[in-house]
Amino acid sequence: MAILFSDLNFRLLICLLMPFIMILTETHSCKAQIISTAPPQTVTVAINGRTTIAKIGDNFLCATLDWWPPEKCDYGTCSWGRASALNLDLSNPLLQNAVRGLTPLMLRLGGSLQDKLIYGIGNLQRPCVPQKPTSDLFGFSEGCLNMSRWDALNRFFQLTGVQVAFGLNALYGREKDYTHAWDSTNAYDFIQYTIKKKYQIQAWELGNELSGSGVGASVPVSQYVSDVKKLRAVIDQLYAGWTTKPLIVAPDGFFDENWYLQLLQGTGNQIINVLSRHIYSLGAGVDTDLVDKILNPSYLSQEAGPYRSMQQMLQTNGPWAQAWIGEAGGAYNSGHHLVTDAFVFSFWYADQLGMAARFNNTAFCRQSLIGGNYGLLDHATFNPNPDYYSALIWKTLMGKNVLSASVNGNNYLRAYAHCSKGDSQSISVLLINLSNTTQFSVNLAITATAPLDTLVRQFEVPMLEQKTSGTSKSGAQRLEYHLTRT
Ligand SMILES: *[C@@H]1O[C@H](CO)[C@@H](O)[C@H](O)[C@H]1NC(C)=O
Ligand SMILES: *[C@@H]1O[C@H](CO)[C@@H](O)[C@H](O)[C@H]1NC(C)=O
Ligand SMILES: *[C@@H]1O[C@H](CO)[C@@H](O)[C@H](O)[C@H]1NC(C)=O
Ligand SMILES: *[C@@H]1O[C@H](CO)[C@@H](O)[C@H](O)[C@H]1NC(C)=O
Repeated sequence: MAILFSDLNFRLLICLLMPFIMILTETHSCKAQIISTAPPQTVTVAINGRTTIAKIGDNFLCATLDWWPPEKCDYGTCSWGRASALNLDLSNPLLQNAVRGLTPLMLRLGGSLQDKLIYGIGNLQRPCVPQKPTSDLFGFSEGCLNMSRWDALNRFFQLTGVQVAFGLNALYGREKDYTHAWDSTNAYDFIQYTIKKKYQIQAWELGNELSGSGVGASVPVSQYVSDVKKLRAVIDQLYAGWTTKPLIVAPDGFFDENWYLQLLQGTGNQIINVLSRHIYSLGAGVDTDLVDKILNPSYLSQEAGPYRSMQQMLQTNGPWAQAWIGEAGGAYNSGHHLVTDAFVFSFWYADQLGMAARFNNTAFCRQSLIGGNYGLLDHATFNPNPDYYSALIWKTLMGKNVLSASVNGNNYLRAYAHCSKGDSQSISVLLINLSNTTQFSVNLAITATAPLDTLVRQFEVPMLEQKTSGTSKSGAQRLEYHLTRT
């Protein structure tokens, strides 16, 4: 099994009608425990280098910061530590360097407790105090973000150079009855403070998993339409005169086609900029069959359904709006230690990144940057987990323009292709080998715009070694990242 990112150099950009076939020599990442005497199976990966089928945004790579306190536990395991945006050690050099390494990166602040978080500013009629474990919705009392913590977070965002998407509390003022209207006053004061301090916010999001039947709480779609319009009015008023206003993102829930369509049509042209959804398609973190699902091509392909429906919905009913994956942790209730924080999860993560891009999503927010069992960084040590490197290689190689790539011969090999990052004359190919028995010999059938130069650079996850093969022009190189250097 291996995940391979390759970077193929082209001489020229413009169109060549003659397909060029290239053989990629197979490499081993998990040195075979399985001794296979069968000859390698030849599969053809067809890539059309002449047409862009989708485009991703500058902030496609995205990770979340959540609000869960250390007392958050699932199935008897407490996996958050001090990884909440309220208590994370923002001065930790590992954290700072790891985040800097992933830029351009967007951080999305949100999660279940965002709808129980108030902001310590303005005419707040109650004290700004930390959340406590209770029997309330989501297991905690109301929390509060005070402005000194918000200032510290923004210093961290500026220092590391990340973009920020902030999930607003959509249950404010209707904690007892979700059918009531959203009270926007606390959000108004908070956004006004943010503008006064010149903090750049890429997107304001309204609510977390309150769409459809909701998770814990749900808001009827007709009410949500009014609430989003109210947020639009707030943003337009507070950012009046700005040439670029922050995006409005909603509903950040699970995809319910009918509900989403009503939200999009009910709000209408230019009110919602981004329609976002969450992905926890592998089931509960406690499940024992997660690895089987992660390595099962039919299971992975099921997610293409919602990706396709969302894309079609936007094309037909809301061409003004982008699609985002606002939060994706794979397995809900904090993931599963030694699965969602292990190398095997890269098979899911890399495949999701590829699929999200192919279906025109302009951002994919991985739950989480840190915290739970699915962090790119370990919540206790801040050391990178394997998927940190998947993200790093993705951002190093995969450019904005997505090309079609199809695999012929065996569905255990999956392929995604983009124009290379920072080099419009190259194509980067992500190959995911899900098989534990088959050795593949891959023919790349590329319809390109110019004769191919045969330089192939390969990056294998989790190693960051850069190797060359074919008629390579340069010697072997190695990418090194020193996260502990200050
Ligand atoms: C794919 O996985 C199989 C089984 O682990 C392995 O033999 C093979 O070398 C891997 N890579 C390729 C490119 O086939
Ligand atoms: C993808 O988005 C672009 C705009 O960025 C649009 O032109 C194109 O039609 C979209 N493709 C699909 C299949 O939705
Ligand atoms: C602000 O909030 C942070 C995090 O919740 C807390 O550690 C700090 O003591 C608070 N500061 C004030 C002045 O209340
Ligand atoms: C190989 O994968 C199959 C499923 O595709 C699984 O049933 C089998 O147990 C795996 N074998 C090993 C040695 O991991």
